[in-house]
Amino acid sequence: MTKTGEQHLAVVVLAAGAGTRMKSNKPKVMHEIAGLPLLGHALATASSLGASYVVPVIRHQKDSIAPYIEAFYPNATIAEQDQIPGTGRAVECALEVLPADFKGAVVVTSGDVPMLDVATLEGLIDAHLSNGCVATILTAVLDDPSGYGRIVRTSDGSFLRIIEHRDATKKQLDIREVNAGVYVFDADHLRTALSRIGTHNAQGEKYLTDAAAELIQEGFDVQAIPVTDNWLVAGINDRVQLSEVGAELNRRICEAWQLAGVTILDPSSTWIDVTVQLGQDVTLLPGTYLKGLTTIGEGATVGPEVVLVDCKVGEGASVVKTHASGSSIGAGASVGPYAYLRPGTDLGAEGKIGTFVETKNAKIGAGSKVPHLSYVGDAEIGVESNIGAGTIFANYDGVKKHRSVIGSHVRTGSHNVFVAPIEIADGAYTAAGTVVRKSVAAGDLAMNLAPQRNIAGWVLDKRPGSAAAAAAQAAQASGSSQKASDQDSNN
Ligand code: UD1
Ligand code: MG
Repeated sequence: MTKTGEQHLAVVVLAAGAGTRMKSNKPKVMHEIAGLPLLGHALATASSLGASYVVPVIRHQKDSIAPYIEAFYPNATIAEQDQIPGTGRAVECALEVLPADFKGAVVVTSGDVPMLDVATLEGLIDAHLSNGCVATILTAVLDDPSGYGRIVRTSDGSFLRIIEHRDATKKQLDIREVNAGVYVFDADHLRTALSRIGTHNAQGEKYLTDAAAELIQEGFDVQAIPVTDNWLVAGINDRVQLSEVGAELNRRICEAWQLAGVTILDPSSTWIDVTVQLGQDVTLLPGTYLKGLTTIGEGATVGPEVVLVDCKVGEGASVVKTHASGSSIGAGASVGPYAYLRPGTDLGAEGKIGTFVETKNAKIGAGSKVPHLSYVGDAEIGVESNIGAGTIFANYDGVKKHRSVIGSHVRTGSHNVFVAPIEIADGAYTAAGTVVRKSVAAGDLAMNLAPQRNIAGWVLDKRPGSAAAAAAQAAQASGSSQKASDQDSNN
């Protein structure tokens, strides 16, 4: 874009409306698609223009909106709209927070138009600066223009005015070119025009759209330029539009990753936030949701049916039917199916978190495995250790959480309970069924089971005539139980 324009550019993002059509306790512009609130999308685009001022205008439910802006866009200058309603008044309030001598271009966008991109705005600003117009309006030609303001042109095709749907005549309602709600104005002319317009319309609001007609009446040039891709200017007023625009944005995100070298088997069931990063040759299988600051390394396979929130997946790892948040999965590691990784899980390279395993705040070293039916909470496991099936890390004594530390090359038996705090040193073993209450030194075997006692003939004695007794008798007659009894006598 024209560089001189950047130094004299302010971008106003309108977000003060009531959003009544959402029927929500949450402000309309805070509803999310692709992992960001609608306002977040609008502010991301606004902030990419290199403008001196980015001015979100808020009023309704401002206490639910201002903290988001302050946290993520601390350089934005928030303007508050007063009780006078309408988009024109909103822009007037925005102009009031700019320096009184601000000159240059004022871009106006809406907090409820999330797909508008930087290239379209730059093109609009360029067209504005190069054509000597005092206002440039982005339009769209729609099959169904209902609800939008219509673009009225003269017989030679030049812009005349915008008429809102509610104020339009029957003939004007047939116009399919609509106001996209995206504009570039010259600051001085905008100030003057806004000071001259009233609220004589069906809604009794001060319409920004009337400023354009006012400028035409004063003899200035105003141009209206159609956008080439209507999705870019789709405004969200209700939850039907929220899901439609959300699906289209997701379709485009998937397509961009496919073109960047990611295999996505079924884009319609794969949901990727704008904040996610994917490596080359990642494969995403159906039913995958990648959210927040998730990153996936080259060649990893994720899905089917995986939710990853703020997770890091290493190169070549495999994650199947898993719900994970705030976790890191090492290169070449394997997770799932049916795994639940809670925040603070850190699985090392080539490690395994297997089937029906829940982990939390657990560092599991490289090559270590928790393959089956276990809970690992508040634990540290060294490298190349194996945790037996059905193991519980008992981290909670009813009052406090405690840590367990398992060394490297440890082998723990099936169905163990590790009563934290506890330490099992390098190379130690634990026997199946052990409740480990005392720490185990390096190389020791821990077992705390009472010796097994087999009572000979108990079934025939106590359950005579039962099916079990008959089966036992038959086995004894054929001699097949002899070997087991011989072994037992060694105990
Ligand atoms: C507006 C336009 C319409 C256009 C459509 C495109 C006007 C009068 N109409 O209609 O021509 O086709 O957008 O999407 O401008 N807002 C404020 N303060 C207010 C009222 C609204 O900041 O007092 C904000 C809203 O939060 C929203 C934006 O302005 O982000 C547009 O408001 P909305 O009520 O959605 O206007 P539309 O009826 O869609
Ligand atoms: Mg709207």
